[in-house]
Amino acid sequence: MADTNARLTLGEKSFDLPVLSGSVGPDVIDIRKLYAQTGAFTYDPGYTSTGSCESEITYIDGDQGILLHRGYPIDQLAEHSTFMEVAYLLLNGDLPSQDELNNFTYTISRHTMLHEQLSTFYRGFRRDAHPMAIMCGVVGALSAFYHDSTDITDPKQRMIASHRLIAKMPTIAAMAYKYSVGQPFLYPQNNLSYTGNFLRMTFGVPAEPYEVNPVIENAMRRIFILHADHEQNASTSTVRLAGSSGANPFACIAAGIACLWGPAHGGANEAALNMLREIGRPERIPEYIARAKDKEDPFRLMGFGHRVYKNFDPRAKVMQRTAEEVLNELGISDPIFDVARELEQIALKDDYFIEKKLYPNVDFYSGVILSAIGFPTSMFTALFALARTVGWVAQWNEMISDPDQKIGRPRQLYTGPTQRDYVPVERR
Ligand code: SDX
Repeated sequence: MADTNARLTLGEKSFDLPVLSGSVGPDVIDIRKLYAQTGAFTYDPGYTSTGSCESEITYIDGDQGILLHRGYPIDQLAEHSTFMEVAYLLLNGDLPSQDELNNFTYTISRHTMLHEQLSTFYRGFRRDAHPMAIMCGVVGALSAFYHDSTDITDPKQRMIASHRLIAKMPTIAAMAYKYSVGQPFLYPQNNLSYTGNFLRMTFGVPAEPYEVNPVIENAMRRIFILHADHEQNASTSTVRLAGSSGANPFACIAAGIACLWGPAHGGANEAALNMLREIGRPERIPEYIARAKDKEDPFRLMGFGHRVYKNFDPRAKVMQRTAEEVLNELGISDPIFDVARELEQIALKDDYFIEKKLYPNVDFYSGVILSAIGFPTSMFTALFALARTVGWVAQWNEMISDPDQKIGRPRQLYTGPTQRDYVPVERR
C-alpha cells in the first residue's frame, strides 16, 4: 500500500506518484501509471534505480553487506544448513521441520536421473565444448522430454518441474565434466547427500568405489549455499522475463544459464582465477592494479566490485575462510591463493577501490577452492549455475503465482531517424 506520495513536476503539470514501503530496504516510487498520466517513460539502462518486482525471497543491504534468504543471514545458513534445507527455504518460505526436510530430500532424490536418451545428446558436442554451452543445450532440451511438467498454469506441474530442475542439475553438470575428460557417466547414488552425490558423479569412476571427503563435501555445501540466490541479478531477471511470456520452466532456466555465463556475472569466477594465474606472483600485482585503474585499459579486476554491495560481499568472507580450510585439508599451498589475498589487501588500501567502493565479491575466492578440489576453470560457472538453479526456480515460481504478473515489456528512448520515405536503389 502507498504510505506517502512523490510529487513529479513535468512542464506546467505536477503528478503524485504513490511511494510503497517494503518490510525492509528502500521505498519504491510506483510508476506503473506514469506513462498513462504523463506521456513520458522513465529511463534507466542497466536498471540501477529500478525495482522490477515485489519479492519475499532474498534481501540484500549493499551498504551493510547483508544478505538474507527469507530473513535468515547467509553466514548462518552457510554454517548450519544443508543445501536441501536452503532449497526448501527458498522455495517454500521457511526452514523445514525434520519430516518436511526428509520428504523434500526424498522427492528430490527421485528425480536425480536424466532420461537415458539425453546422454546421447552429449555425444553431439565436441569434447572441448564449454560446459556452459552444454548446460544451455541440455537444460533447454529437458522440455523435449518432460512434457508432463511444462503446463505453467498447473501448480502441481510447476512443482514437479522445479524438483526436476533442482535434482537434475548436478547430474547434468557432472556429465558435462565427464564428457570433457572422456570418462564414462556415473549414475546418481541417492544414499549420498546432494553435494556428495555430485562429487561422486564428477570425480568417481566405475573402476573403483568413491569415498566422499567430508571436508570437500562441506566446502561444496557452503559454496552451493553461497550461490543459491541473490535477489534480482541479471540471470534471475532473465529467468523472470522469459517466464513472464509463459515459456516453460526448462526454457526459462536455460535462459538464466545463458545470461549467467557472461564474465561480468557468473563467468567472473572463471575469469578471476584466470586473472590470478596470469598475475602469477605478488610482485606483479601493482601492474594489474594500475591497469584496473587505467580508464584507457578495458581490464578490470575480476571478482571485484558489485552493483549492489558497496561494502564487503558477505559471501566472499565465507568463501575466503572455506578456501583456507580446503587448502589446509588437502595440504596444498597454492601460490594463487597467496596472490589473491595479497591483491585483496593492496586493492582495499588503494584510493581508487576505496572511492569506488570496490570489494571482493563471491567470485573472487571461489576459483581457488574449486581448482584445489580438482575442477577445471571451465566448470566453475557451471557449478554457479547448478547452485543458482534453486534461486531461479524459487523466483520463477514466485513470479508465476503473482496475480499481478504480466509479460515484461520495457520501452525505450528512441534516437534513430524519424520517418522518411523509401528510396529505390537506383537513386541511392
Ligand atoms: C556476480 O547482481 C548480482 O547479484 C550478481 C552476483 C549474483 O550472485 O548473482 O552477485 C554474481 O555477478 C558478481 C559480480 C561478478 N563480476 C565481476 O567480478 C566482474 C568485475 N566486476 C565488474 O565488472 C563490476 O563491478 C560489476 C559488473 C560487477 C558491477 O558493475 P556496475 O555496478 O555496473 O558498476 P560499473 O561497471 O558502473 O563500475 C562503477 C565504476 C566504474 O568506474 P567509472 O566509470 O565510474 O570511473 O567502478 C569501476 C568501473 O570502471 N569498476 C571497476 C571494477 N568494477 C567496477 N574497476 C576495476 N575493476 C573492477 N572489477
